[in-house]
Amino acid sequence: MTISITSSTSAPDKVKADLLAIPVYEGRELGAGGEIARAACGGAGLDSFMIGAGFDGKVGSTITVPVSNGGLAAAAITFVGLGKRDAVTLDTLRRAAAAVARRANKVTTVATTLLEAAPAGAESSAAAQAVAEGVHLGAYEFLRYKPEGKPTLLAKVVALGGGSPAAVKAGLARGSAIAGAVIRARDLVNEPGGSLSAVDFAAEAVKVGKVAGLKVTVLDEAAIKRLKLGGLLGVNRGSTEPPRFVKLEYVPTKRAKGNLALVGKGVTFDSGGLSLKTADGMETMKTDMSGAAAVLAAMSVLSAAGCGAKVTGYIPLTDNMPSGSAVKPGDVLRIRNGKTVEVLNTDAEGRLILADALSLAVEDEPEAIVDLATLTGACMVALGSDIAGLFASHDGWGQQVKAAADRTGESMWPMPMPEFYKPLIVSDVADIKNSGAGRYGGAITAALFLREFVGSVPWVHLDIAGPARAASDGAYNRKGGTGFAVRTLVELCCTYTVP
Ligand code: BES
Ligand code: MN
Ligand code: ZN
Repeated sequence: MTISITSSTSAPDKVKADLLAIPVYEGRELGAGGEIARAACGGAGLDSFMIGAGFDGKVGSTITVPVSNGGLAAAAITFVGLGKRDAVTLDTLRRAAAAVARRANKVTTVATTLLEAAPAGAESSAAAQAVAEGVHLGAYEFLRYKPEGKPTLLAKVVALGGGSPAAVKAGLARGSAIAGAVIRARDLVNEPGGSLSAVDFAAEAVKVGKVAGLKVTVLDEAAIKRLKLGGLLGVNRGSTEPPRFVKLEYVPTKRAKGNLALVGKGVTFDSGGLSLKTADGMETMKTDMSGAAAVLAAMSVLSAAGCGAKVTGYIPLTDNMPSGSAVKPGDVLRIRNGKTVEVLNTDAEGRLILADALSLAVEDEPEAIVDLATLTGACMVALGSDIAGLFASHDGWGQQVKAAADRTGESMWPMPMPEFYKPLIVSDVADIKNSGAGRYGGAITAALFLREFVGSVPWVHLDIAGPARAASDGAYNRKGGTGFAVRTLVELCCTYTVP
């Protein structure tokens, strides 16, 4: 569905729209415009109608009622749940807006008073941003290979009220731009591994960078060899497709307020290599470049978002395939920073390519680093499929990233990285090994491995193996790639302070 969102200061009974969407709190307490809506569709009977239909105002639930008593331009009213009135957050608005957008697919224009339900203390622009994000993300579908499912409707959402019109307008524009970035990430993640190779991803980065005002440098296989990226070359050895390494640079127009590095795992398809995955385990492994997609997508919108910090992205790209030339369990690779790694499980490939990328990032001397990777199934065992693991080498930096995530409604949880687990990654024949310590604490041993490559730069590692992909449609997610962490990265870069 193609959807757009604009604002209006019209009253809900005056606005020209096919559908009017009105917020409702738990207990069927109507929000802004509720009395107009009640009068227009059923009067006193509305409450019993809702009870009969099982509508209780839970967040994101909807019920649509035809307008019977005229007086409104809209032919029907959709009531959208916000849950408990005093528990409404910006993420509640985002989720409710997504539900409204999905209802909108049957109509041309839907007006909503959702902005009037913003939580106390929230700025008008922040509420408008959340609603715009919800509308665009909720309406998202990946239709590239379903031509008959191509959107035919051009649905329009009109956000009513919400305070200062200028602030609402700015918030809607910001939310629409950021949602566009999330959708870019989703499209990349949903693209099959067979049609998005390392070369394809790099070409896409060049295209995106041109439009977004980023400097893009693509290293081909020869350049990767010259730079001695032994982890990336090792993982790529089993492939018929060459690797790429993409560096993205965003430089603000004014003097930069800070300098941070983003690193994203770009495994375009993870078969496991010679340590081959099961058929089931492989089904979703086109998702294994979600970290890379998040970095590219977030950076594509930094200029539009007015980010004041210098941001550099580092994206190692390859697939992980088995073949006669593939890296073998027991092989030793030498990473960019000189450390040697014994590869005991070729399916622990993400940390090998990230080791090179982190080494390169550190050489450019940023003030802080964040890496994002669909790194371990173990992180999903620890935190479930909707929460990212957050590992920090520096408390203040960890808290800064966590706070940015909390403001965007993306779930991340701090994980420990104790020194006493370090022996689990010590190798008999090399500096460290990439697995082989048993399966317990797998997300932590992966993080400890990465820590070997960040020197003393404040660093946060986000294991997004779970939330990068949704197993089914959710509030504003669709089954498939979610674009997780794009919104957090934009928020983090735009509010960044030296840790
Ligand atoms: N890409 C996978 C991690 C993953 C698994 C992401 C499931 C999303 C869903 C990663 O490369 C991997 O295979 N990790 C191994 C590590 C192990 C061999 C030490 C894992 O988690 O099993
Ligand atoms: Mn793997
Ligand atoms: Zn992987």
